[in-house]
Amino acid sequence: MLDRQELIREIKEKNDIVAVISEYTTLKRVGRNLTGLCPLHSEKTPSFNVNPAKQFFYCFGCGKGGDVISFIMKVENVDFITAAQRLARRAGIEWPEAQPLSKEDHQKEQLYKINKLAAAFFHHCLIKTESGATARQYLDRRKILPTSWSAFNLGYASAGWHQLTELLKQKAIPLEAAEKVGLVGFGENGFYDRFRDRLIFPILDLRGRFAGFGGRIFDQSHPKYLNSPESVIFHKSRLLYGFYQAKETIRHKRQVIIVEGYLDVIQAHQAGFTQTIASLGTALTREQVKLIKRYASEAVLAYDADSAGQNATHKGLELLQEAGLEIKILSLPTGHDPDSLIREAGAEAFEALLQKRMNVIDYQLSQVVGKYDVNSPEGKAQAVQELLPQLAKVDSSIAREAYIRKAAREIGVSETAVFNELRRWVHTNGKNSQVLDRINNNSYTNEITVNSRPKTGLVNVENLTPLQKAIFKAEKELLQLTLQEYDKFERIKEKLEAKDFRFEVWRNLFAALDQKRLSSAGPEFVLEELASSTREVAATLLAEQEIKNCPGDLDGILNRLQMLYLQERIQSLTNEISTGRDARGQVLEEAALKAKVREFTELKNRLQKEFPHFTAEI
Ligand code: UTP
Ligand code: MN
Repeated sequence: MLDRQELIREIKEKNDIVAVISEYTTLKRVGRNLTGLCPLHSEKTPSFNVNPAKQFFYCFGCGKGGDVISFIMKVENVDFITAAQRLARRAGIEWPEAQPLSKEDHQKEQLYKINKLAAAFFHHCLIKTESGATARQYLDRRKILPTSWSAFNLGYASAGWHQLTELLKQKAIPLEAAEKVGLVGFGENGFYDRFRDRLIFPILDLRGRFAGFGGRIFDQSHPKYLNSPESVIFHKSRLLYGFYQAKETIRHKRQVIIVEGYLDVIQAHQAGFTQTIASLGTALTREQVKLIKRYASEAVLAYDADSAGQNATHKGLELLQEAGLEIKILSLPTGHDPDSLIREAGAEAFEALLQKRMNVIDYQLSQVVGKYDVNSPEGKAQAVQELLPQLAKVDSSIAREAYIRKAAREIGVSETAVFNELRRWVHTNGKNSQVLDRINNNSYTNEITVNSRPKTGLVNVENLTPLQKAIFKAEKELLQLTLQEYDKFERIKEKLEAKDFRFEVWRNLFAALDQKRLSSAGPEFVLEELASSTREVAATLLAEQEIKNCPGDLDGILNRLQMLYLQERIQSLTNEISTGRDARGQVLEEAALKAKVREFTELKNRLQKEFPHFTAEI
């Protein structure tokens, strides 16, 4: 007999860490190691590493690491023995001393057994009995094939009140236990069958155990389904219909299709979309999302067009997004669900829609454009407003900018307007969240200020010398501060005039602000008064500044700017002196040259005296 240590060694040997971890996250080979998104904490960029040679994992993000057993302990939140047992089972290794079941586990085993028996009985009634004819015809009408009857263990609960009850009695099964899982009820005349004259959809857990049932009536009365009640083995919030049948495909494709109903799941599987699952008539929960995340990286939502599920802001979708799943939305024709679509238009029609699945923003954009009258100002505003929460969620600033552009185009507003609305939304809704960080790192404001305003001075920052770049930035920062602290304008004016600005885009804005300064009280007010071209520049600067959210140091920037101007002058003097020509290329007379040298020396001294710690910077 194996001793304990030997057993553990065997478990580790037969459970390759790469294979085990791959059941939880997608790993990619990088040199000798593999990396992926950490299944132990939520992250967007992979910091999780697996070393196959040493059979060891480590996450630079959360700092957790260890061997395959400790991985299972952490990811499943179980103790050492449980983790080892699970891995033993996974590798087909027998666990030596039969662990006596706890009382609770014992009870659960009994309940699973009762459900299994009932499921077999219902299935038998469907396929073998005369009374099952109604159910069989019903399934035929809905084009559910016999192969699916067995793949999903479908059943029929006959119309009588005591068929199942009698069977359980015969098998000496305590009816009180069957009552716990809602198969039987207790009334004046004792125990009776709860599922009567219904099509039965057994609900399996991840391990294929019968956790509960959904029973559909055949006519139009309400409620349509009778489901198992919550019990120690049936937790609606943790189960997903079809997951047991779908999990291999989901794992393989890293994709899951989420639909609403039992029949949608079955119809989709039958049509070859075996990665399809459904929640049990409720919005997705955190636990369900966690389960999905273990197998999939992409979730395709295929909800009815008219359903609340289509609302892109609904809870389940948010949870899926939070979990880092890539969300796609499949847009079904109005009045259809996956079941009716496949039944009427075939698998190809569903496949075509699947190919055209949209990401959330594109989907939402297509929705708002249809929903609001984007030719009216109010319609435009509402449409933009509805897109903001999703826009704020876009991680990449490049992607976000592309969406802003697209939304602006389709709604017929300026990109700046969308950006400013987004900035405002983030400011009030997501101040302390990651969202703000993401917007913080946005380069959008720079780009539009610099590149899309030819009238106010087209500047390609990339082509500037380091000194010019520094001036461009300092002038911009000064204006941002001016806009924020408009009451300090007088102080700024003491040191600087519009004509001092080297870049036209800033010079024009400064001049405009200068003109308006007597009449205005605050930056918002100033904005209103500016002409539209300068207003856009100002709004963008203000937006960027607010997002950075750091109070600027006015004296610091003013000093810096003057120092930079000084350096600029010195640089051009250096040029003139060394070439003997002035800025226009004219040869310099001796007197003029001497004057230049004198000015140069003077400025050099001033620079060193006034800005001793700045000088070395550029
Ligand atoms: P649907 O009304 O879309 O049902 O509810 P369906 O399964 O597609 O059935 P058909 O197509 O009308 O035959 C979607 C899901 O909501 C839950 C079930 O899980 C169902 O599959 N539900 C619905 C209930 O639990 N109880 C109900 O009364 C209705
Ligand atoms: Mn349906």
